[in-house]
Amino acid sequence: MYEVERLDIGIKGLNEILGGGIPRGFTIAVVGEPGTGKTIFSLHFISAGISSGEKGIYVTTEESRESIVKQAEMFNFKFRDAIERGDLIIIDALMEEKGDPWSLRELDVDELLSKIIEAKKTLGYGHARVVIDSMSAFWLDKPAMARRYSYTVKRVLSRWDVTVVMTSQYAVTTSLGFGFGIEHVADGIIRFRKAVIGGSLKRFLVVEKMRQTDHDKRVFEIDIVDGKGMVIIGPYTVSRGDLSLPFSVLARILESEIKKERELLRNSSE
Ligand SMILES: Nc1ncnc2c1ncn2[C@@H]1O[C@H](COP(=O)(O)OP(=O)(O)O)[C@@H](O)[C@H]1O
Ligand SMILES: [Mg+2]
Repeated sequence: MYEVERLDIGIKGLNEILGGGIPRGFTIAVVGEPGTGKTIFSLHFISAGISSGEKGIYVTTEESRESIVKQAEMFNFKFRDAIERGDLIIIDALMEEKGDPWSLRELDVDELLSKIIEAKKTLGYGHARVVIDSMSAFWLDKPAMARRYSYTVKRVLSRWDVTVVMTSQYAVTTSLGFGFGIEHVADGIIRFRKAVIGGSLKRFLVVEKMRQTDHDKRVFEIDIVDGKGMVIIGPYTVSRGDLSLPFSVLARILESEIKKERELLRNSSE
């Protein structure tokens, strides 16, 4: 039988949900609203790679390099040491530190790709885990390009020995999958959600797609714990109304979203 090589993610219980881990060489879409745990998931992914002797490349567009390192340290991931050893490169965007070789001067896909490839060459031989957090930052002002950009990134990086996690931001109202790029090209989709239930914020994870994998289809409740990071609490039995809006509200939101998308498309093709 053909065995797929799978990468440990470093979150207890998640490898099992994923049938053993993320297949090496895959491009994974990690999607969800702000504050759902996308960045923290990505830090685990990189940290687990470094622990098993792989290299890491972390592209951060929403936070500074320092903020990523600090957040990682809260979970005892030694990113600073990894950078010093030459196992990890953090590429940030628009921080405009003069002469910094690992800063993107603009949110441009060609520049992103050339920096990642340069980083891969600098890190040297062997498999590298790449995180692009977030990918949606690259089409903020041109959402119609989302799919093409995602495809380009996947195609170009597939020539290198890397496994890629791309995150994408969603508003509550747009979590329905209209016109979004990375999900169309990804080999796997992990969706994070949040909801206020019984007066407190709960977070969830569901694997929506993982090629070549008999993955768990259940929704899992998760938590983020200081000193530890992401924790899988267990499968969640979703009651109607917990994670979804009433149908009439949904229909209205959908209508206005479609209208908005049409307008954006019209504007971007002018
Ligand atoms: N040290 C910590 N201890 C506990 N929870 C934390 C800690 N650091 C961050 N968090 C939680 O993680 C959340 C941010 O998650 P993050 O992965 O950055 O979200 P996203 O990238 O999806 O926007 C915070 O809102 C907070 O609830
Ligand atoms: Mg984030």
